[in-house]
This record gives sequence, structure tokens and C-alpha cells, in this order.
Amino acid sequence: MPATVVIGGQWGDEGKGRIVDLLARDASVIARYSAGNNAGHTIINQLGLFALHLVPAGIFYADKTCIVGNGVAIDPQVLLEEIDSLEARGVSTEKLFVSDRAHVIMPYHPIIDQLDEKLRGPAAVGTTGRGVGPAFGDKVGRMGVRMGDLIDPQAFRERLAFVLPYKNAVLTKLYGAEPLDIEDIFEAYSKFAARLAPRVCDTSRIARAAIERGENVLLEGAQGALLDLDAGTYDYVTSSVPSSTSPGAAIGIGIGPGDITKVVGVYKAYMTRVGNGPMPTELLDETGNILRLQGPRPEIGTTTGRPRRTGWFDAVCSRYSASINSVTSVAITRLDVLDPFPSIQVCTAYEIDGRVVETPPASISAFERAVPRFEELPGWQTDCTQARKFAQLPENAQRYVRRLGQLIGKPIEIVSVGPEREQVIIVDHDLEGA
Ligand code: GDP
Ligand code: IMO
Ligand code: MG
Repeated sequence: MPATVVIGGQWGDEGKGRIVDLLARDASVIARYSAGNNAGHTIINQLGLFALHLVPAGIFYADKTCIVGNGVAIDPQVLLEEIDSLEARGVSTEKLFVSDRAHVIMPYHPIIDQLDEKLRGPAAVGTTGRGVGPAFGDKVGRMGVRMGDLIDPQAFRERLAFVLPYKNAVLTKLYGAEPLDIEDIFEAYSKFAARLAPRVCDTSRIARAAIERGENVLLEGAQGALLDLDAGTYDYVTSSVPSSTSPGAAIGIGIGPGDITKVVGVYKAYMTRVGNGPMPTELLDETGNILRLQGPRPEIGTTTGRPRRTGWFDAVCSRYSASINSVTSVAITRLDVLDPFPSIQVCTAYEIDGRVVETPPASISAFERAVPRFEELPGWQTDCTQARKFAQLPENAQRYVRRLGQLIGKPIEIVSVGPEREQVIIVDHDLEGA
């Protein structure tokens, strides 16, 4: 089983980091393949709580190789801070490698990201402001700086001399902002380059060699399918090229698509979203507040600290995301958050302009008009955080999880009942019939 991809099936923050931490036990290489430090992946283990933005969640296993792949946009300062913070807490980063083809988030990218949000006014996307969108824009526009350029002083200077006048024109003429100085950037980024250089290499070779040896490679997605440029709620999406969906995984690490044999789709037992854009099942009432605040890890954004929007499980979007990702098995997370509810709603279809719709519309305007059709399921009002086998879950919780599996249309393999490493149920299908 060479390569497994872990993807988010909703609008991000499904608990991918926590699932990768679990699955990494059986892999020899763990790699991030997309996005940048807009991602925030939380892991709680014996060393404490970690919020990772660029380093793969496999880093806590000293014997594994970790890769920041060619599909990631890297802010070198953020990466170095993350490495330093891990080392200071006793986590070795000796086997962490960075692709020479990965693009660099330059100082003008976060500035343009934030100025652009202001310019969009009421149509602001609600980005994380980390410069990720503008960095991928430059990648597609053939204006990017790659890690291989950054660590080669001559190439870096030539690249900056080509790109910066263009960026300064955008900053000054479009946004009325101050231009940036080439020497300041060169000096600061050369220091980052010197520290990162020993890790920068052709990481695709590492992944391909592991696959050829028959070892397991685990590919850690960021965000979620509903934030994807093509599949998501455009233009309230994130700008990662390659996509964070499973089809992007092969490109973003540099392996062939046929090497991917398993796709784990991670879904919360309800929905959340950070930033703007449609969310048909959103709850703006007390129920939404309970979903946000219930349990040990309230729904607060890992990267920006923004409160997450909350709502009931949306099977229309979730079935769609499982299908376009070729999900082979599902991990349901945060089931424990539903513990207090006497009854739980699940959206099984939308009504748009009087028509029943079972797949997400392309038009954002139609999405905004979608009225969810709900199915009501009984709650369990019992603490489920101690369950370690499916049969130990309250009967109505079992029923709820089974129903989610039916609606998503894929087998449920993992149920997470708390944020800690061991708070998890591996579902045995033969024995437990989920
Ligand atoms: P990611 O971006 O998909 O890795 O997810 P985040 O780390 O941004 O957000 C998931 C949040 O849920 C984090 O605070 C996790 O610690 C927490 N979490 C993960 N699984 C569970 C669970 O089963 N129960 C609870 N209560 N929290 C969980
Ligand atoms: P993880 O990997 C949740 C959202 C932002 C915003 C939109 C565009 O932790 O699940 P961007 O800064 O990417 O241009 O913002 O995408 N977003 C995420 N939401 N989890 C994430 O990552 C996200 N990464 C981006 O909130 O709505
Ligand atoms: Mg997150």
C-alpha cells in the first residue's frame, strides 16, 4: 500500500493533523503536498499540544522522514520558527527535508494579500493574510521564487532583480503602498536561506524511492475540498496549486497518481468554516454557540485565532467531496462535541428556488439561496470520550456514525472522540458492522 492521502472533506480544520499523527505510525515518509502556513494542524501527544503550519504532522516520530513538498508555498521565516520551536520542545527535525521546487512566500506576498482584501471590500474572502494566495498567483504567473533559487545567492539576486520592480509597481501604483528595498530583502532572506539550505533537495526522489522499496508514504492534505479552487465555493476558496484535494497530492509531492492506493477523508461530525462564503447549514443561534464552545478544544482557528462558524453536518457537500477525492475510507472527528444534544440534524439535500438539489451548485449566488432539508436523529446525551471500540459508543452515537457513513457513501474506518492521540476508535467492519 504505497501512498495514502489524508484530505479534508469540508471547509478545513476537520482534524487532519490529528489523523495524520495516528496514521504516521505505519508510514516511513510523511509529506505536506499543498498550501502554506494558512494551514494549522493541531496534534496533542505525550509532549503536549502543537500547532503545525508547514511541518508535517509525522515529525513526532524520530525514525520517519518528513517532507515539505514541491506543492507547498513556504514562508522561510515561519518554517524556521516552527523548526526552532519543535527543537526547543525536544522534537528532532533532523529528518525534515524541503523541496527545491517549492515556492517561497516573499515579503510582498502577505502585504498584497492584506491590501487586496481591503480593496475587495464587502467581497473580501476572509483570507488568513499569510500571503499564500499571492504566492500561488505568482507561481501560476511565472513570477515565483523557488527554494532552489533562494539557496543560490546568484540565482536569488537575479530573480529578485527581475520580480521586485514588477511587485513594487503593483504595491505603489495599484495599492498606493510603499515600495520594498531589494537589499533589505536579499539580506534577510539570505539568512533564512543559509539555515534552510542543508534541508533543501529533490524531495520527489525520497518519496519515489520509499515507494519503490514498498514502504508507506503518507501525504498530508491541508484545508478541505470545499475550499478548493475548482470544487469549492469559488471565489470564497483558497489558492493552492496544486489543489489540496487527493488529485493534487501526486503533483505536490512528485509521484505518479497510480502510486496512491488509499484516500482517507476526514470529516467533522458537524460543519465549521473560517472566513466568508456560503455555508447552508450554519447556525447563528445558541445551538451554533454550543457547537463552537463544547468540549476540550473550542472552535477557534488554529492559524488566525478567529472563531469558526458552525452548523449541522452537510451530507450534500460531504458526499460530493468524498466522490471527487476518491475517498476510500472516512475518519469522523469531534463526535464528542455532539454529546450534549438531545437531537441532531443532518442536511440531506438543499432546496434552491423551489427545486430539490443533491449536489453543490457551482453558482455562489445559488449556494447562498440554498435552504437545507434536514433529517433528525436522536442524540445520546452521554460522554463518549472514553469509548475505544465502536460497540462502546452509546447506541444513538453508533446510529449517528452509521448514518453519516451511508450519506457520505464510503466506509467509516476511524472515529475520533477527543483530541488526544489515544482518544480514537478504529472501526472493525466485520465485527461491528459500521
Ligand atoms: P486540521 O487543520 O484539519 O488539522 O484541524 P485543526 O487542528 O485546525 O482543528 C481541529 C481541532 O479539533 C483541534 O483543536 C484538535 O485538537 C481538535 N480535535 C481533533 N479531533 C478531536 C476530537 O475528536 N474531539 C475534540 N473535542 N477535538 C478534536
Ligand atoms: P487547515 O489545513 C480552514 C480559508 C481561510 C479563508 C480562505 C482563503 O488548517 O484545514 P487563504 O489565506 O488560504 O487565502 O484564505 O481559506 N482557509 C482555511 N480554513 N482551515 C485551513 O487550513 C484553511 N486554509 C485556508 O479562512 O476563508
Ligand atoms: Mg486547521
